[in-house]
Amino acid sequence: MHEAERGHEAERGHEAERGHEAERGHRVAVIGGDGIGPEVIAEALKVASAAGVSLDTVAYDLGAARYLATGEVLPDTVLGELRGFDAILLGAVGPPVGSNAVPPGTLERGLLLRLRFELDLYVNLRPFTGLAGSPAEGCDFVVVRENTEGAYAGEGGFLRKGTPHEVATQGSVNTRMGVERCARFAFELAERRERRRVTLVHKTNVLTFSGDLWQRAVQEVAADHQGVEWDYNHVDAACIYLVERPSAYDVIVTDNLFGDILTDLAGALCGGIGFAASANLNPARTGPSLFEPVHGAAHDIAGTGRANPLAAISSAALMLDHLGEAAASARISKAVASYLASHPVGAPFPSTSAVGDAIAERL
Ligand code: IPM
Ligand code: MN
Repeated sequence: MHEAERGHEAERGHEAERGHEAERGHRVAVIGGDGIGPEVIAEALKVASAAGVSLDTVAYDLGAARYLATGEVLPDTVLGELRGFDAILLGAVGPPVGSNAVPPGTLERGLLLRLRFELDLYVNLRPFTGLAGSPAEGCDFVVVRENTEGAYAGEGGFLRKGTPHEVATQGSVNTRMGVERCARFAFELAERRERRRVTLVHKTNVLTFSGDLWQRAVQEVAADHQGVEWDYNHVDAACIYLVERPSAYDVIVTDNLFGDILTDLAGALCGGIGFAASANLNPARTGPSLFEPVHGAAHDIAGTGRANPLAAISSAALMLDHLGEAAASARISKAVASYLASHPVGAPFPSTSAVGDAIAERL
């Protein structure tokens, strides 16, 4: 084939792809969920569309409301359908605080963790930027939280439950494969960042088995990434350092439970959990990844227009990046940053939909 022809072929191929994309858009399953979930997701979709990305959405009514109405948490048929999407966008699930209508763990284990495990969403990526006026003002770091193992794996059980001799165990599962793939993700991410620095956070002085495995796995992965500097912090010390000098961190890689706790601390330090986005990633792309704000359903302010949609909007930006819409994603992140530059911590926010409009207008 002549050079020119080859070019032509390639172009036709691209055009076909573009045409295809334009026709169907990215297929996204939307789980608005409970409380403020649907409200913040509406703003995230508004912004994605204003960024010029065509999304083919299908709504799924999973969450506390569906559980209370039907007893269903995540039917196998729904899980099967979800596997077919390009991505999943989730608002928040859960009953009002203090309600005991949904037993603890029902939605956490039955829906959120089941999705993480079944879809092999092995990285929980949580980027943080310190807002103006927050204790971490100006900071920019990312937590790579292992998302399918550790204490979340569900190993354990009861012996003699309900008796004075009751025993409860809750193990932490750490596989070499699981730790290594998470570490690889962290180092590859650090390679693309300016400071190229990874900090492993664990508790190797007490958790001498799992800590040792993590330490060795990270050491070996680091050897394959000579351009990335790395160090280690015990998790308790990391809590002090995060408060005292958050700017020291670039990429933190850590175990599932440590990552859960550290990211709430980081969210609070950076201006509030209402700004914290997350991506539950299947980096191997054997199925859809799931994107969700870190905050909960906040039933107390549902329907009042007071929910902050920025975490959902930023989660949608992470989703677009994962879907290959890097330019649109970057534009949304820039619009959020520029909006926040004029909204220091504590400044009053307009309504949920007005915030969405303001971001959309800046695109
Ligand atoms: C989070 C949440 C979840 C977790 C809960 C709701 C299962 O706190 O995404 O951080 O512990 O991972
Ligand atoms: Mn959490």
